Amino acid sequence: MLRSAQTYSKLSRTHSVRVKCDTTTSIAQADNVKIAFRGREIEVPRGSKLRTALLRAGLTPHSEGAVYINCRGIGSCGTCAVEIQGEVQPASWTTAEQLRLNIPPHSAPGNQRLRLACQVACAGDLRLTKYDKFWGEGDTPLPDLPPTAGAAGGAAGEGGAGGAGVTPLGELEFVLDREAQRPEQR
Ligand code: FES
Repeated sequence: MLRSAQTYSKLSRTHSVRVKCDTTTSIAQADNVKIAFRGREIEVPRGSKLRTALLRAGLTPHSEGAVYINCRGIGSCGTCAVEIQGEVQPASWTTAEQLRLNIPPHSAPGNQRLRLACQVACAGDLRLTKYDKFWGEGDTPLPDLPPTAGAAGGAAGEGGAGGAGVTPLGELEFVLDREAQRPEQR
């Protein structure tokens, strides 16, 4: 959807996920989608890898110690599993998802509702549910995060804890996502 520069500038100021925009920014880059996750809402560029989008906003698809112990997007650990309502690409399980989501503790039938956040791109507005347990293989949705002061989506760090709360490895968290590098690092 085409937005005016003024509108896009306003969006950039009012949402926690900020996207640098200059005269060469493409329409595709300016086309954002919304993600609702555990009581928060963030806005990210369409096409963003879901795991990256959450982490950049200070949220995480990982729970418990999986924030520290995960495969950083290889698709092998299975800890970024979430239920997704909305359009992502690819629309069905990738090969990595077929392999990992069929390995315990993920198993049928609960695995059928899950996607790996590191394997999908945000193609439309999304509503996510993260289930309990280390791999997100439980049946109880995690509760909403506490509200944060200021912008929707919260500060860096789950629950607005700040710092490297959800990205203990810093930019290495995104080393497997070629599109995730910040503009100044390209
Ligand atoms: S981060 Fe390991 S499978 Fe997604």
